[in-house]
Formats: sequence, C-alpha cells, structure tokens
Amino acid sequence: MNSITKALTAIVIAAFEQCGYDPALGEVTPSDRPDICQFQCNGAFAGAKLYRKAPFMIAEEVAALLREKSEFSSAEVVKPGFINLILTDEYILSVVKEIAADEHAGIPQAENPQTIVIDYGGPNVAKPLHIGHLRSAIIGQAMKNLARACGHKVYSDVHLGDWGLQIGLVIAELNERFPERRCFAADFDPERDSVEPLSAELLCEVYPFASNKSKEDEAFKEKAHIATYELQNGRAGYTALWKEILRVSVADLKENYSRLGVDFDYWYGESDADKYIPELMKILEEKGLSYESDGALVVDVQQEDDKAPIPPAIVRKSDNSSIYATTDLATIIQRERDFKPDKIWYVVDKRQELHFTQVFRCAKRAQLVPQETELELLGFGTMNGSDGKPYKTRDGGVMRLSDLIETVTESSEKRLESSAFVSEENRSEYARKLGMAALKFGDLINHRAKDYIFDIDKFLSAEGKTGIYILYTISRINSIMNKAEGLKPEFRGIYTDAEREIMLRLLMTGDAFRLAMSEKAPNYVCENAYQLAVAFSRFYHENRILDEEDEDKKLSWLALSLTVKRVITKHLDVLGIETVENM
Ligand code: ARG
Repeated sequence: MNSITKALTAIVIAAFEQCGYDPALGEVTPSDRPDICQFQCNGAFAGAKLYRKAPFMIAEEVAALLREKSEFSSAEVVKPGFINLILTDEYILSVVKEIAADEHAGIPQAENPQTIVIDYGGPNVAKPLHIGHLRSAIIGQAMKNLARACGHKVYSDVHLGDWGLQIGLVIAELNERFPERRCFAADFDPERDSVEPLSAELLCEVYPFASNKSKEDEAFKEKAHIATYELQNGRAGYTALWKEILRVSVADLKENYSRLGVDFDYWYGESDADKYIPELMKILEEKGLSYESDGALVVDVQQEDDKAPIPPAIVRKSDNSSIYATTDLATIIQRERDFKPDKIWYVVDKRQELHFTQVFRCAKRAQLVPQETELELLGFGTMNGSDGKPYKTRDGGVMRLSDLIETVTESSEKRLESSAFVSEENRSEYARKLGMAALKFGDLINHRAKDYIFDIDKFLSAEGKTGIYILYTISRINSIMNKAEGLKPEFRGIYTDAEREIMLRLLMTGDAFRLAMSEKAPNYVCENAYQLAVAFSRFYHENRILDEEDEDKKLSWLALSLTVKRVITKHLDVLGIETVENM
C-alpha cells in the first residue's frame, strides 16, 4: 500500500498537471491545523513564482478539479493560497478496510528494496555489558525491524570488540595470576596442549582490575600492549586463550541480549576483519592515500567545505599495531564482499562521530565501496540520571546492563502485586514483559540523537507516553474481543467523530513509518503508536461497544478495535516490545 500522503499527492499532482502546471507542485502533507482540515497542499506558492500568477488563482483552479473527486468532501482555498483538504468518509473507510486486509498492516513497502547492513550492539569481549550498551542494542534492533517491515533486506552484525587492548590486558593479568598455565608457554602447541576453562565471573572481575592496574603500573601496561601485539600476530598460546575468553564472553553476551529481546544475524568481531587488513593497507598505499606521519601511517580526510579541521585517520600506529579505524575500514571490505550492501548503518554513541567521519571518508577515498553506498552513523545520545549526568549506580559506578534489567523488572513486579488480572504464576513473566516495554518505549520515544533521563517510575506509569499505556490499550481490546465471541466484526460505516479520529490515525501510519525510515529514527513509530492508543481510548470512553444495540455500529466498532490492535501490535513488533494478553 501507498502511504496516504503519497496516494493523495498522486491525485493532486494530476490536478496541477491538468491545469497546465508543474506536477511537482502537488505535494500533499498532513494539515498544520487539524481543527480546520485533514490534509493540505501548499504548491500554489511555488507555482506563483514559476508562473507569475497570484497563488490564490492557481490554488482555486486546482481546487475546483479536486472538488469533483470522490476522495474529497471539501477542497477549500484559504488566502493567500493554501489548499485545505478533507476526505469523504467513504474514502477514509475504504482505506481503513485496505489497511485491515493488508498483510503489512498499511506499512508502505519499498519500491526498490535495498540491502542494508546494520552494525549495532558493539559490546567488548571480557567486559560486562553496561548501560552504555543499552541504546545501541534497542535502537539498532528497532531499526533492523523497521527496515525489514518496509521490505528491505537487512543483515545485522554485532561487531564484537574482540581484538583490542582489552584482550591484551586480560591476558597479561591472567599471566600474572596463573603463570604456570600452558597457554603462557612459548612452546604452546595447540595439537598437544589445551587451555584451562575460564568462568564468566573471573572474566568480569579480571578486566576492570587489569584496566585499573595499567593506569598505575607502566610495566604492566607495556606487558598488555605486547600481549595484544603477540595475539594479533598469531602467538599460539594466546590465540587458544583468546578463544576461551571469547567462548565464555559470547555466551554471557548472548544471554544478556536475549533478555533484552535483541538478536543478531552475525556475531562477527573486529578479529574477523583482521585478514582484510593487509589488503586494506595495500589499497591505501597503491592509491597513494596513506603516508607516514610521526611514525604512524595516516590518511587525510579533510574536505574543502569543512568548517573545522578534521584530523587524518590513523591506520597504523607507530608501534605497528592496527587500531579502531583500521578494523572498521577492513570490516567495510568484508561487508562489501559478503553482502554488497546499498547502505551500512552504524548505531553507535554520537560521541564517536569524528571516528566515523574519518572512517567513511577514508573508505570512499579508497573506493572500498561504490561512491553511492550510504555509510551512515545513526548516532545516539546518552541515557542520563535525574541529575542530568550519565546514569550511574548508587555508589557512582557504571551500571551493569544486567543490573538495570533486574531493577526494572523488580519495580514492574512490585506494581503487579496489586493487580487483579495477573495471577501469581504469571507475575514474573508479566513483570519481565512490562519492564522491558517500559524501558524500551521510554528510550525509543526520544529522538535517538537526544539525551534523555532514565526515570523508571515515569516509564512504568499507565498514564502518558509510556509503553505501559499502549499495552493497556491492547489489553483492553483483547478483553472486548473475548466478550464479543460469536460476533463477526465488519466495517459498515463511520458513526462518530472519535471513530473518524482513529481512522485518520490509521491512515497516517504509513507516513509515520516512512518518516521513521527516512530519518532513521524509531521515535516516529512510538509517537504514532501512542497517538493511535490515545484516539482509541477516547473512543472507548465515549462508547459502550458491547452494549450497542445497533448491529451495524457494533460490528463496525469491533472491526475497528481489531484493526487498531493489529496495527499497534505491528508498531510494537518493530520496537521490539512484546504484548500481554490482559492487565
Ligand atoms: N566496541 C565499540 C565501543 O565499545 C563500539 C563498536 C561500534 N561499531 C563499530 N563498527 N565501530 O566503543
């Protein structure tokens, strides 16, 4: 299905054309004044310049044609030249029926489906997930679902940080604690020797310990650097130990992501890009892009129109180790080879913007991907505490993601203790779902690039723009439908203003999805789900659906309720939010 503004635009374009004007003037948008009309077209203003005519005259000519169309009950021109449009109930109803019957619930499908790689998650091996990882995971997952819902082919890649200094730190520290282990021996032989299993607890404790130590102890820091270098150059014992670290760490990560309802098609890591680094270096050299600077190898990325200087991308450090930019560049080669993507999106903290600007420009200069391939950072802001600073634990530390999930689930469970609907045996399942709905919606309702304040009481509230409010709406519809057993829902007409409001919202859904996709921002999906829920609540409070005696109304209202549920659920699917039957 087309989005409604696209469908209306096609009609208005034809009218402009028929009057001898440029069809491009026929763009229809939702009304700025919903109290006066539903949609509008402002094309007469641009037309006035093109044709040296008063906008009012152009608008009048076009509106006269539109008035004859069955889609519009009114096409009025307001000075100095706005065309204000109101749809007929018949047309609204016909589109709503189409949405109800559409397998995509009215979400416009891409005309040219694209192949998109989404890089999100970005956890680091051997370091526990903390709340800094929350946003990448839930925004990335929502963008993946959104792009798929619009018909694109999407591959998600977690892009594990599994190759950097953090591994060297862990290896160096384990070496100090367990020097006798075979993996540290220079003559380690993978055929004969094996690595002692590690535990997740040990790993979680070792990394922060080693990281702190390296800040005070130069010799230890040096050891960690050497270990990193030796690992990256294939030392057998370290490779075996690294694999063990990876095994334990990835199992732990998978468990945490699955609690969040977040998943990935590929669990590639920075280490998987390693084999492309020689090729990358060769390309950079052959194209004359890389040069030595202070012992490091760098590539210029400054462009003429830059307002501020952009430092060169460093692709190899003076100690010969390759770094963050190098692995990201090599990963682009890998992705181009594996997926030939039209777009690669990186859902990463916006504070990494400079890094990505350097990487993208370098990739384009080196032609690692075709010029038209879109490389884009979908940068996100910070989740803050009530003091406006990045959210911390009570004692000021960085909060683990698992602890945050725990806290949210507990708060949610407390609220359910007094619920008459939720039996004790269902309580923990409900608490998990409601907690996650609250957390995700509380995050995703904000434009991704903005910072927001984590406020669990607000997120768990049944009032306001919350996930809980929306789940309530669904649960309400479920209970209506359960009591309507034996009745066959069917659209037969529009009987009240409140219904028309809901239907207009349903009509706007396609546009909300299109906007979310073009802005790469799931908050438009949240907002539309919320507006649908608000419109439905109003209707629900004004009418007693099941007690209605007029059969036409009753069956229509049931059909409408069912469609609202289906469309909101589609929104929630995209947002990665599960519904509950009854609450
Ligand atoms: N591991 C990185 C970090 O913790 C994030 C990775 C983001 N993705 C990327 N392709 N660089 O900051």
